[in-house]
Amino acid sequence: MSRDKSSRRASAEQQTLDVSEAQIAVHWPEEDYFLPPASFIAQANLTDQDVFARFSLDKFPECFKEFADLLDWYKYWETTFDASDPPFWRWFVGGTINACYNCVDRHLTAYRNKAAIHFVPEPEDETVQHVTYQELYVRVNEFAAMLRDSCGLKAGDRVTLHMPMVAELPITMLACARLGVIHSQVFSGFSGAACADRILDSESRLLITMDAYWRGGKLIDHKEKADTAFAEAAEKGHQAEKVLIWQRYSGKYSSPTKLVEGRDVIVNEAVKAFRGKRVEPVQMPAEAPLFLMYSSGTTGRPKGCQHSIGGYLAYVAWTSKYIQDIHPEDVYWCMADIGWITGHSYIVYGPLALAASSVVYEGVPVYPDAGRPWRIAENLGVNIFHTSPTAIRALRRSGPDEPAKYNYHFKHMTTVGEPIEPEVWKWYHRSVGKGEAVIVDTWWQTETGGFLCSTVPALHKMKPGSAGPGIPGIHPVIYDDDGNELARGSGKAGNICILNPWPGAFQTIWKAPERYVKTYYGRYCRDPKSKDWRDWPYMAGDGAVDAADGYFRILGRIDDVINVAGHRLGTKEIESAALLVPDVVEAAVVPVADEIKGRVPELYVSLKPGVEASEDIAKRVADSVVERIGSIAKPHRVLIVPDMPKTRSGKIMRRVLASLSNHQDPGDVSTLANPEIVDSLRALVK
Ligand code: WTA
Repeated sequence: MSRDKSSRRASAEQQTLDVSEAQIAVHWPEEDYFLPPASFIAQANLTDQDVFARFSLDKFPECFKEFADLLDWYKYWETTFDASDPPFWRWFVGGTINACYNCVDRHLTAYRNKAAIHFVPEPEDETVQHVTYQELYVRVNEFAAMLRDSCGLKAGDRVTLHMPMVAELPITMLACARLGVIHSQVFSGFSGAACADRILDSESRLLITMDAYWRGGKLIDHKEKADTAFAEAAEKGHQAEKVLIWQRYSGKYSSPTKLVEGRDVIVNEAVKAFRGKRVEPVQMPAEAPLFLMYSSGTTGRPKGCQHSIGGYLAYVAWTSKYIQDIHPEDVYWCMADIGWITGHSYIVYGPLALAASSVVYEGVPVYPDAGRPWRIAENLGVNIFHTSPTAIRALRRSGPDEPAKYNYHFKHMTTVGEPIEPEVWKWYHRSVGKGEAVIVDTWWQTETGGFLCSTVPALHKMKPGSAGPGIPGIHPVIYDDDGNELARGSGKAGNICILNPWPGAFQTIWKAPERYVKTYYGRYCRDPKSKDWRDWPYMAGDGAVDAADGYFRILGRIDDVINVAGHRLGTKEIESAALLVPDVVEAAVVPVADEIKGRVPELYVSLKPGVEASEDIAKRVADSVVERIGSIAKPHRVLIVPDMPKTRSGKIMRRVLASLSNHQDPGDVSTLANPEIVDSLRALVK
């Protein structure tokens, strides 16, 4: 495919990046294949080779009916796919549905007494809570009644959740979904300031939080962040109405931060007035939003990815059934945080849509020791396990022999969120999976709702270090910077795009539709006037290689986003936080390869003339980043430099800094305005 010159010029303008993760990716040899165990294939949900023909590109879009048929609809849809306003695709148009009904009510007949959620508190002496589907139904109804009748929430309202990993988080999400209220859960590790930005952008009516939670052996005061979030959002122009506070220990307020009278409501008390109440699920259009999930992008402002009810739920249900191989009798544990998209899709909505038992673990995987996950797996009989390369690396480093000490058996394991080194994959396979489990390496994004590339577990060979081909219905392609399609299996790196729309894809960026079009479709759209979806490939923003066997290996982000321990952070957000320190005049952050976290941010700053570099300034810069974003963004190092490497037009060359930080050759620096700076920076970085 080639495009005309004008669109090529437009794409060059959009391409502001001069450094990317993909640039520092290590190319590893991939020659091993592993076969799925026969015992897995014998029980798998999807063993039918015809699936690939059923989902070939010429079967688009009707092939996706099969996804939506996994759900219960009030009214069946009239149009499977509506492309009348590209790239604002609409799915299952005319259908009405409720996500909470699909995840709770419809399972009551067959699975009333089965666990929906196993909540595992971090303290090991605390009892595990097994929430049955009946109990989930009761609790969700009571809380939905409170949200509706006491807080006045109605379909389309937004609420911000800033909750830790507790059973009350899915209960809150499902109560919102029951009412058609749009939830926006913010990762609990994010700061109050980061939460404020999200309350403001979504114009949330309520902030729902918890007083405290356990993390790494400490009972953390979480309510404190709610006060900051509420006040800062109000200061910036949006006053939420109330703060609803769940108690970590019902009947006992566990935070040293005072309650604000008239504003703060203890849910555990207030919900008592709704005991026994039932709320009819609101019949929502398939295309109504289910939730917002904020994610980092190339500007300082995180973007609210808006996901639909029908398309999203259909997509996560199908992929949970056939890629995660979830059966109702499985005990499924995804050790991610519900504050990220992985947790929304593959702890809450996907598994519960299938009546699975889903584990919610409060704490740190390696706390109090690296045997913890395997004790949980043994106790609960977990047989499907899902985690990130960062967690696998950490568990491998601190307890390589721990899994063998415990009596658990996984049939299926997932890795998600970052590239996994073949060596780490093999430890996961051999030691964690005891050679008995199939592994899927799933590549996808907040925007995509669910998996894009992965092997189908019973049908494909596994290849350590590679995600795999597009899943059934997903047709990936690699373009070079000029928009030419690389031949399939070329083995060359380029930008991975998806040729066709799919039901799980986000609908837009909340309140920023132009940004949505420009970021994801601006670069490779063949004709902005076209109504044909074929002219609108989706650009994921990742570098990737398509190998001869048709498996995609993901190299990392090609934009100003750093993936730290599987968490997406925008470089602009980190730099803006650094610039809040009065002595700092310039800031540039680059990704540095890290043995455990994959990548960590390293921050370069230069100071106002006459200001001496000091450890104190470096500390203030790091503190500012933690305060504005959260401790996950804490720079690995803050390097105070006399000047930044710059182009003649004054742009900071982050590419040069990234090379120095990763001990790579910065290449030709003669075009810089100040090439002499490179040597002194190199000395500093050491
Ligand atoms: C990266 C997480 C390699 C990628 C689900 C993507 C991966 C970003 C993989 C999205 C994988 C995700 N292999 N890289 N299996 N999965 N990524 O939005 O760079 O938090 O663009 O969604 O993580 O991160 P997000």
